[in-house]
Amino acid sequence: MTSMTDKNRVLIFDTTLRDGEQSPGATMTHAEKLEIAEMLDDMGVDIIEAGFPIASEGDFKAVSEIARASKNAVICGLARAQLPDIDRCWEAVKHAKAPRIHTFIGTSPLHRAIPNLTMDEMAERIHQTVTHARNLCDNVQWSPMDATRTEWDYLRRVVEIAIKAGASTINIPDTVGYTAPAESADLIRRLIAEVPGADEVIFATHCHNDLGMATANSLAAVAGGARQIECTINGLGERAGNTALEEVVMALKVRHDIMPWTTNVDTRKIMAISRRVATVSGFPVQFNKAVVGKNAFAHESGIHQDGVLKNVETFEIMRPEDVGLTSNSLPLGKHSGRAALKDKLKQLGFEVGDNQLKDVFVRFKELADRKKEVYDDDVVALMRVGEDPE
Ligand code: KIV
Ligand code: ZN
Repeated sequence: MTSMTDKNRVLIFDTTLRDGEQSPGATMTHAEKLEIAEMLDDMGVDIIEAGFPIASEGDFKAVSEIARASKNAVICGLARAQLPDIDRCWEAVKHAKAPRIHTFIGTSPLHRAIPNLTMDEMAERIHQTVTHARNLCDNVQWSPMDATRTEWDYLRRVVEIAIKAGASTINIPDTVGYTAPAESADLIRRLIAEVPGADEVIFATHCHNDLGMATANSLAAVAGGARQIECTINGLGERAGNTALEEVVMALKVRHDIMPWTTNVDTRKIMAISRRVATVSGFPVQFNKAVVGKNAFAHESGIHQDGVLKNVETFEIMRPEDVGLTSNSLPLGKHSGRAALKDKLKQLGFEVGDNQLKDVFVRFKELADRKKEVYDDDVVALMRVGEDPE
């Protein structure tokens, strides 16, 4: 069982290599998976869900090798609530210093209809499979898939069964991104208050982003008592994706005043892994994505550029260095003002007086009206206008 002495510590469970890779078209090669796992391990992620070992020979091999290579993180594999799945998962994760089996079953009415099990039959299956997993591995996570659309009485009942059968982490998935923050907090709070044995286990939150609320729902679940957040780099995942690791980790860092929980993640490694995951998955990061988007630390408008040049905190709540960037950027465009142009000219080695700045600023605005972005070479060319040809 994952030990947690610090009540304010939130475990980060990364599932980029499992739920993230399930995103249509995001398949990664074996070597790429190993590389991403190494980066996750190195940045301080607590648990890496490395794959779904029974899904394919490739997944089995990747999970086994990641298990062998990991230095710090717990290595977890996913298994359906079936004994052969769990055995296969154990065969892959058992090489890790700290292995975990994660087994799940869909508990909502819609999901119960698929294997066509009655509530009692499913309860029995949960008891049997969690017990089996626990006989193989002393770190077992159990998830009632589609928990947020499962009837409260049934959810409470099956969570209790899983705890009694030996699960040490109970993950509450919002599989289809259906919940909202107040409900997400309340669900965890009620489970902890009402399920016998709940104080002996860690509750996890696993949110999807169908309504754009995955980060808010995950943080709300932590406020309700969850101490593990499941997430992916860049929010990669099925449909609209999973909770983005960089968002929850930076939110906890930046707003520690109102969310007093800490993680073990070295945030300075965020940008490098974000870029690498974007490349290997083939899913580019949207320009305005929180924390890791190209524009997350860029300011184009004159008022913003002037403010940032005078005091960076006027328009930045995070330091670029804290996510692994060397600096913010002030791209020049038609919204830019004199202060940013003067700053750029200085960087390019031109010291200009007020009159010269006035002239070049007029030419700059004419150009900026025609071009989306004015690059360094354009600025140099603007300075050359009017110079005598040699
Ligand atoms: O979204 C989900 O319910 C899952 C489970 C397998 C945990 O990914
Ligand atoms: Zn999921």
